[in-house]
Amino acid sequence: MCFVSKKLYTAFPFVVILFLLTSWPIYGKTEANLASAYKDYFSIGVALSKTDTQSEAVRRMVLDNFDSVTHEFAMKWSQVEVKQGIYDFSHIDSFVALNAGADKRIIGHTLVWHKANPDWLFKQEAIKPTAARDFYLDKLKTYIFTMMGRYRGKIYGWDVVNEAFNYDGSFRKSPWLDTIGEDYIEKAFEFAHQADPNAELYYNDYGLVNSKKQTAVAALVQRLKVKGIPIHAIGIQGHYSLTYPDLTKLDETIQRFAKLGVKVMITELDVSVLPFPGQEERGEDALISAERFTELNPYSEQLPDKIQQQHTNRYRDLFCVFLKHKNTVSRVTFWGLTDSRSWRNNWPLEGRTDYPLLYDRNLQPKPIVAELINLASSYKSACNPVRVYKE
Ligand code: XIL
Repeated sequence: MCFVSKKLYTAFPFVVILFLLTSWPIYGKTEANLASAYKDYFSIGVALSKTDTQSEAVRRMVLDNFDSVTHEFAMKWSQVEVKQGIYDFSHIDSFVALNAGADKRIIGHTLVWHKANPDWLFKQEAIKPTAARDFYLDKLKTYIFTMMGRYRGKIYGWDVVNEAFNYDGSFRKSPWLDTIGEDYIEKAFEFAHQADPNAELYYNDYGLVNSKKQTAVAALVQRLKVKGIPIHAIGIQGHYSLTYPDLTKLDETIQRFAKLGVKVMITELDVSVLPFPGQEERGEDALISAERFTELNPYSEQLPDKIQQQHTNRYRDLFCVFLKHKNTVSRVTFWGLTDSRSWRNNWPLEGRTDYPLLYDRNLQPKPIVAELINLASSYKSACNPVRVYKE
């Protein structure tokens, strides 16, 4: 008896080590949790793709580091109302159930956009032009009530309207603008508030460091407020690079929006390391000849350490700006989790190898994850304003 327990006693440390080795997760677990490190400042979210949501390894990473999730594609109208009046909610239902169960704030993206509308929606030949406004107002209302009604109390906030303005401040070309007119945005917010009075409602766009675009968005917020239609936040998309945007401009943009009495969210953060063909400031799609592809895809094998370091610094500097405005910024959402699945590999040019996110192609956290966690407790001294606001 005594012999057996002695044997067990000596073997105990080895059993513990063996247990730790076999139960150690295969994903790269970080020391601490990003979302909990930032919990006193703002929520930390991530956008997931369909493939992501089917991966257990990804799920563990989400559980570890984020308190909010967005689906990057499944909630767009073309994915939901597959035929007129025929909805496919199956994927969203499981996404919502899984994340609600894990206590994540779910963000709906997006109700009204000039893109990703179902093919049938704007091919209504029987509708006379004079009847178009009423017809599409009705469609908009029905869709918003259907989506928001189904997920009432489960989806925390919605990007109600996405990308509605041009850089000169005019209304962007959109079938919604063509059929309903300029007040389609106001109507969408009105319907959204009626459909779920407790949901947060957001206007979301890119390139908001541009002052004319900012003015258009500020005017929209004021119009909504005057009419008593709620809008809770402006989503700054945050598709950035090592040099864009100028951090001083970003700082001023957040300040300007804060004065409107709405929150600001960094909704689609990614930092590309690749040259930007086309006009980065304008976020235009690139039209590039095939011969230039190699030049524009310089890190197809791997990312040099020097660039990796610049990427880390850039994320840190951006977070310094967000932390400076922690009373205004209520959420920062990364647009994807791992480099391999980032949309930046295909935009503004298709088929490149980019490195814009927090996790590498082997699902391992990059050094920036630990850096950002440290920054949460050290930002007061680490975010030296001279360093942060100098380009
Ligand atoms: C992108 C998704 O990331 C891709 O998976 C999809 O194929 C196209 O859309 N601005 C937006 C997002 O508001 O909806 C876009 O997401 C990226 C640009």
